[in-house]
This record gives sequence, structure tokens and C-alpha cells, in this order.
Amino acid sequence: MILLTGASGFFGKIAWRVWSATREVYGVCRTNTCGGRFFACDLTNPGEVRALLNRLRPDVIVHAAAVRDPDLCERQKEYAWRLHVEATRQLAAWCRSNSACLVYISTDYVFDGNAPPYAEDAPVNPLNVYGKTKAEGEHAAREAGEWIVVRIPLQYGYSQPDDDSLVLKVLSALRSGETYELDDRQARYPTLSDDVAVAILALLERGERGIFHLRGPSRLTRYEIWCKIAEVFAMPMNGLRRAPGGLTQAARRPLDCELKMSRYDALGLTPFHDFEGGLKWVREAMQRDGYDWRVG
Ligand SMILES: NC(=O)c1ccc[n+]([C@@H]2O[C@H](COP(=O)([O-])OP(=O)(O)OC[C@H]3O[C@@H](n4cnc5c(N)ncnc54)[C@H](OP(=O)(O)O)[C@@H]3O)[C@@H](O)[C@H]2O)c1
Repeated sequence: MILLTGASGFFGKIAWRVWSATREVYGVCRTNTCGGRFFACDLTNPGEVRALLNRLRPDVIVHAAAVRDPDLCERQKEYAWRLHVEATRQLAAWCRSNSACLVYISTDYVFDGNAPPYAEDAPVNPLNVYGKTKAEGEHAAREAGEWIVVRIPLQYGYSQPDDDSLVLKVLSALRSGETYELDDRQARYPTLSDDVAVAILALLERGERGIFHLRGPSRLTRYEIWCKIAEVFAMPMNGLRRAPGGLTQAARRPLDCELKMSRYDALGLTPFHDFEGGLKWVREAMQRDGYDWRVG
């Protein structure tokens, strides 16, 4: 049985759908936005976490809950530490005492982006609070004894029309007809969350342990990502501009955190979609759902 934290989040909703087709999966979220489908539990409250784990007694915990916005992490350092590090440590301790496996969802932002591509055993050197707390969270996860750390870059996909998702946000912006200045320097590797979910299940089924890098094969800047979404969804892209300067966000961003997928590739498991193929897959999922992105 899998217990998935962050089940109401973008990745969590997709992972829950993929895994619950063949596995018993329980989701955890913080608020009740999950509409009663999942257990509400504040992971920064050790008493609540202990009670939930002792009640459900999972075989595997996938810890995906996070403050995923690096700029927000700069403003909420202490909360990010509690969720990414201290909560992970508690989950790891429970796993160690109960012979369960902990899967920690981490990020390419544990690297500084100066010397890509990064192998699974490359030294981490995060530039911002998000990356630092996630890197510390990776250490905490190792205390489980049985653990997998999965590092992933920018996620995209589709689960429902009101999702906080990259594709839906871009489509909404394109519909507005406004002008957008977009970074054209930082390399991104957009990765279909369904591919990540399928890969994690395959790793668990094979009894794999340790650090795995999971990413899509396409390398694009933010500007190129938006243009490709406009192209695949046949939306106007005349409002899209390359930002003239560098990066201006609150949290420093690494320039290129390309992850080497050597360990995953060596297993001969399902390959990941490239960005165009993944977007077409997302478009078909929206069509099946009756969602018209031209009106929102
Ligand atoms: N999205 C990306 O592009 C990306 C890229 C690289 C790595 N990642 C990693 O992938 C994982 C999933 O990210 P995501 O995009 O799905 O994040 P998300 O959409 O922001 O979802 C965050 C989830 O964490 C839960 N959460 C936050 N604080 C909590 C608390 N105190 N107790 C219990 N649950 C709490 C939220 O629950 P509520 O909804 O109830 O608040 C929500 O389910 C994260 O570990 C992130 O670091 C994401």
C-alpha cells in the first residue's frame, strides 16, 4: 500500500490516478481542497503525522508535498525547512522502524547549474532556499534505510481544468492576448508527470533503491516552452517576447541543471515523452475530458 503526500498537488493528482489503477493508494493533503478523497494531515505537525502513519501503516511512503515555488520558499524559509526536511526526517524514522520504503520527490534545483549534465552521484550545490531545503530533505530521506530519491525538473501534464498547471497557465495567458516577456536563457527540461509516475512505480516493482534522475529529453527556455505550447494548441503567439535582460526573480535560478538519467536508462524501462509528444498527449487528455482550451 502506498501513502502519497502532496496528493492534492499538481504531481500528486496525476500520480494518484496512475498508481491507483493497479495499487492501493492513500493520499495526504493539508487542506480539505481534496474534497474528502484524501486524508487531511499537516505534515509539519509531528503528532498528526504519527497518528496517521500508525493508523494506515503503509508499505511505501511517497513524499511529494512541498512548497514548490522557489520565490515563496525565500519568504517562508522556516516553513520550507519544516516541510522539506523535518517532516521528511519523521517519515524516514517511521519507515526505518516499520520496514517501509520512503520515496522522496526532489528537484534538479539541488544543483547550481554551472556544470551540466549532472550524474546521480554529482555533488549538490543549491543556489536558493528551495534547493537547499530539498537537498537537506534528500539527506533526511536516507535515514529510512530503504529509500529512493527521485530528482525531477519542471513538470507538466493534465488532470483537471482547475489545476495549477504549466500548460493551463500558459493557455490562459495566450487567451488573454496580453504581451509576455519570457526568459530565454535558463535551460528547462519539461517532464510529463505521467511518465514520472509510471517510472516510480516501475522502480518500486523492481525493488530499486538510491537516487534516480527522471526527466524529459527536450531542452527549452521558458520562451521556447510557451511558443511550443502555442504551436501544439494552435493558439496565437504574437504576444510572446524574449525578455531582454537576465533572470529577475527573488530566488536565484540555476542556468542549466540537465540531469543525466544513466541509472534509469540502464534499466531499459519506458522512455519519456519529448515535449511536443507530451503536449499532444496532454491535448488528447483535454479533448477526452471535453475541455476547450480556446475558451477556458
Ligand atoms: N511542479 C514542478 O514543476 C516540480 C519541479 C521539480 C520538482 N517538483 C517536486 O515535485 C513535488 C510535487 O510538486 P507539485 O508541483 O505537485 O506541488 P504543488 O502542486 O504545489 O502541491 C503541493 C502539495 O503539498 C501539500 N502540502 C503543502 N504543505 C503541506 C503540509 N504542511 N502538510 C501536508 N501537505 C502539505 C499541498 O497540500 P494542500 O493542497 O492541501 O495545501 C499539495 O498537495 C514536490 O516535492 C516538488 O518539490 C515539482
